[in-house]
Amino acid sequence: MHIVVVCGTNRDGALSRLLTQEVAESYRRLDCTVDLVDMAELPPETLSGSAYQEQPKATAALVERFLKSDGAVFVIPEYNGSFPGVLKLFVDMLPYPEGFDNRPCAFIGLSAGQFQGLRAVEQFQGVAGYRNAHLFPRRLFIGDSYSKFVDGKLADDELTDRLLKQAEGFANFVRQIGEKANGC
Ligand SMILES: Cc1cc2nc3c(=O)[nH]c(=O)nc-3n(C[C@H](O)[C@H](O)[C@H](O)COP(=O)(O)O)c2cc1C
Repeated sequence: MHIVVVCGTNRDGALSRLLTQEVAESYRRLDCTVDLVDMAELPPETLSGSAYQEQPKATAALVERFLKSDGAVFVIPEYNGSFPGVLKLFVDMLPYPEGFDNRPCAFIGLSAGQFQGLRAVEQFQGVAGYRNAHLFPRRLFIGDSYSKFVDGKLADDELTDRLLKQAEGFANFVRQIGEKANGC
C-alpha cells in the first residue's frame, strides 16, 4: 500500500513538516511505502496564471507523486482559522476528476492555539468531499503545537500513540475501499 503524506504548508520551519515525518514513520511501521509531498516543493512558478494551462515541470512532477497514492494523509496547519492558501493552489493543480475521485483521505489538524486545526481540517474536508474523496472519519486534532516538539521530535507519547492508531485505522480503510473497487 502506498501512502502519500502531504505537508499542507510551505512555511520555513513549519511544525507541520516535523509532524509529517512522524506520520510517515507510523505508516512505515505498518509496512506501507510512503512519500512525503511537501508544499515547500511547489515551485514559485505555480503562482503564474499560465500554470492552469501548462504546469511547470516541477509542479506536474509533484502532482504525479500525489496521484500515485492509494491513500493520502493531509497534515493541515491552521492559518487564520483555515487551511493554508498554498494547499488550495496545489489542489487546483490536481487533474479533475482523478485528483480526489474515490481517493481515500485522512486528516490531521495542527494549531498553535486552542482550536487544534478543527476549522482548517473541516474546511479542507469540504473541498475533498466536494471532489468525491473517501473521507476517513477518524481525524486527529493537535493544539498548543509549540509545546509538542523538543529538538525537532514529537515529545508526547500519547500523541505518538494516537498517530499510530489513526494510521492503523486508515490503512484498513484504504484496504477495504480497494477491495470494493476490485469487486472483492
Ligand atoms: C499565517 C499564519 C496564520 C496563523 N493563524 C493561526 C490561527 O488562526 N490560529 C492558530 O491557532 N494558530 C495560527 N497560526 C499558528 C500555526 O497554527 C502554528 O504555527 C502551528 O504550529 C501550525 O503551523 P506550522 O506548521 O506553520 O508551524 C498561524 C500561523 C501562520 C504562519
